Amino acid sequence: MTAITLVQGDITRQTADAIVNAANSSLLGGGGVDGAIHRNGGPQILEACRRLRASHYGKGLPTGQAVATTAGRLDAQYVIHTVGPVWSATEDRSDLLESCYRESLRVAAEVGARTVAFPAISTGVYRWPLDDGARIAVRTVRKHAVPSAFDEIRFVLFDARAYEAFTSALAEG
Ligand code: APR
Repeated sequence: MTAITLVQGDITRQTADAIVNAANSSLLGGGGVDGAIHRNGGPQILEACRRLRASHYGKGLPTGQAVATTAGRLDAQYVIHTVGPVWSATEDRSDLLESCYRESLRVAAEVGARTVAFPAISTGVYRWPLDDGARIAVRTVRKHAVPSAFDEIRFVLFDARAYEAFTSALAEG
């Protein structure tokens, strides 16, 4: 059985087989989680991202897709970069946010990561409402985390408001 857990803190301080990055399509860094992962993980991560841009992702990583690199100095084997959708009040992009969690789990299973730490994808700079982002995250992980493939899926929330949103989403059953 896969444990789904919540932690409040900085995802770059977590120990896990894979740490998921809320990246942008360039894969060349940014603020928030992305900035912290590159800052604390060190240059090897960006070097690996540059190699991906030069090979498979010439036009950048499309929204909703995921790709693994080294975790550099982080206490993990892999960083799984995924690009969340920017919130839109006029267009329902929920399927793209679901895809981030689903594809990150697929990549994690491919590389044999049995503990995966996720941030609350898209709920920062990309302005996705926290409650809805939490609901989509929990629902998608519950649906796609194959019990035999994962020991723990951990949501690492940066502040109390996010932690509460995910607690409610988990309780919704
Ligand atoms: N650890 C855990 N969670 C964090 C951390 C951290 N170190 N830093 C920020 N967060 C939280 C935010 O509070 C938010 O709830 O992660 C969630 C996602 O926020 P962002 O990192 O802003 O990611 P996102 O909303 O997906 O926007 C992605 O922002 O940083 C840029 O390069 C990135 O362009 C991309 C965009």
